[in-house]
Amino acid sequence: MSTAPERPSTVPGVALVTGAARGIGAEVADALARAGHEVVGCDLGEVVSRDGVAMRTCDVSDAGAVQEMVDAIEAENGPVEVLVNNAGILRNKPLRHLTSDEIEAVIRVNLLGTIWCTQAVGTLMTARGYGRVISMASITATKGEAHTSAYAASKGGVIGFTRALAREYAHRGVTVNAVAPGFIATDQTRDVFVGEVGDAVMAQIPARRLGTPADIAAMVVFLAGSASSYVTGQVLTVDGGVT
Ligand SMILES: NC(=O)c1ccc[n+]([C@@H]2O[C@H](COP(=O)([O-])OP(=O)(O)OC[C@H]3O[C@@H](n4cnc5c(N)ncnc54)[C@H](O)[C@@H]3O)[C@@H](O)[C@H]2O)c1
Repeated sequence: MSTAPERPSTVPGVALVTGAARGIGAEVADALARAGHEVVGCDLGEVVSRDGVAMRTCDVSDAGAVQEMVDAIEAENGPVEVLVNNAGILRNKPLRHLTSDEIEAVIRVNLLGTIWCTQAVGTLMTARGYGRVISMASITATKGEAHTSAYAASKGGVIGFTRALAREYAHRGVTVNAVAPGFIATDQTRDVFVGEVGDAVMAQIPARRLGTPADIAAMVVFLAGSASSYVTGQVLTVDGGVT
C-alpha cells in the first residue's frame, strides 16, 4: 500500500508567490513566511523585500523571464516546493469596450503567466517527487459576472489547466489546486466595488462583508502544507457563500 509522499525535509521549503507586492499575493506571501516557508515573491517594476519575503522583479507573462527567475531562485534559495500563481489583472468593461490589447494582456498575465510559472517549477517538482501548485482562479469563471468576460475566460482557463495537470502530476507527489476567491477588498477591486456596483456586489454576499486577503491566505497556507497531500485537482472556493 502506498503512503503520502514525504516532504524532503521537516522544515517547510521555498515558496514562490507571484504578484506578491500587494493585495492577496502580499498577504499570502506573509502568511507562508509565518508558517515557516522561505518565501520569494515576484512582481512588476521595482520591488521591495520585506521581513520574511525576498522580492524579485519578474513579469510572469514573459516565459523567458520566468525561467530565468526560477533558475536564480533554485540556485540562490534552494528547491521551490510551493508555487502560488497569484499575479493577475482585471479589465472590468463590457466586451465591446475591451481593446484587443486589453484582452490579450488579461489572457497573457492570468492564464499564460500561470502556465509559464507552473511549467518551469512543476518540471522540477515532479522530478523531485514533491510539490504544491496553487493558482488563483475566481468565482467569475464558474458563476459569471457581467463586464468580466475576458477575465472570466482567463480564469476558466486556469481551472481547466489545474484539473488536467493535477491528473498528470498526482502520482509524482505534486498536488495542483486552484483557489476561487469571491469579492475581496484589494487595490484591484477598490475602484470596481463602488456605487451601484458595490451595492450589487454586497447584495450577493450572504456573509454580508467583502472578503479579505487573509481569508484567501488561510486557504493557500492549508494547500501549501503537507496536510493537504490528498487534495488535488480541486477549486477551493472562498466567497462568503456567494456561490
Ligand atoms: N480581489 C478580488 O476580488 C479577486 C477575486 C477573485 C480572484 N482574484 C485574483 O487574485 C489575484 C490577486 O488579486 P488582487 O485583488 O490581490 O490584485 P492586485 O491588483 O491588488 O494585486 C495583483 C498583483 O499582481 C501583480 N502583477 C500584475 N501583473 C503582473 C505580471 N505580469 N507579472 C508579475 N506580477 C504582476 C500586480 O503588480 C499586483 O502587485 C489575481 O489573480 C486576481 O485575479 C481577486
